Amino acid sequence: MSTSSSTAAERDFKREFLKIVFVVFGVLLICFCIFFVNHNEDNKYIIATLELNGSAEKGDALFKINCVGCHGITARGLVGPDLHSITQRLNDKEIIKQVTGGLTPPMPSFEIDPANMSNLLKYLHSLE
Ligand code: HEC
Repeated sequence: MSTSSSTAAERDFKREFLKIVFVVFGVLLICFCIFFVNHNEDNKYIIATLELNGSAEKGDALFKINCVGCHGITARGLVGPDLHSITQRLNDKEIIKQVTGGLTPPMPSFEIDPANMSNLLKYLHSLE
């Protein structure tokens, strides 16, 4: 009798254990899918942006609306750093991530379409 009860307990334990493994696996799978989808979206956005040839003037206007509060009217820096020669330190992909990523608070993440992102890039290149 004691053997049969211990095997029953063992079976319960196994079932619980499998349930936990299953749940953990499911959660990891979901995380992976979310990561993959996000990553793919990011890449699509970056590729779309880099394919365009923006206008520095339009980028300048965008900069005056969105960025001067922190980077200064001539992009010489205020709360945020001076952005002259930024394109020598960061490549376009890194700049896109900086502007859209919100990775360095207090700089917010900007939701900006590829055409306007391309304009901004052109403007930043014109600061060299
Ligand atoms: C609320 C203030 C704020 C606004 C608005 C803002 N930034 Fe920033 N930005 C910062 C700060 C602060 C940093 C430095 C972050 C750090 O490195 O920790 C920064 C860093 C950067 C960098 C990287 C500089 C470097 O030396 O690595 C770039 C490029 C940049 N900003 C571009 C922009 C652009 C383009 C806009 C407008 C679309 C913008 N920022 C709007 C505050 C701001």
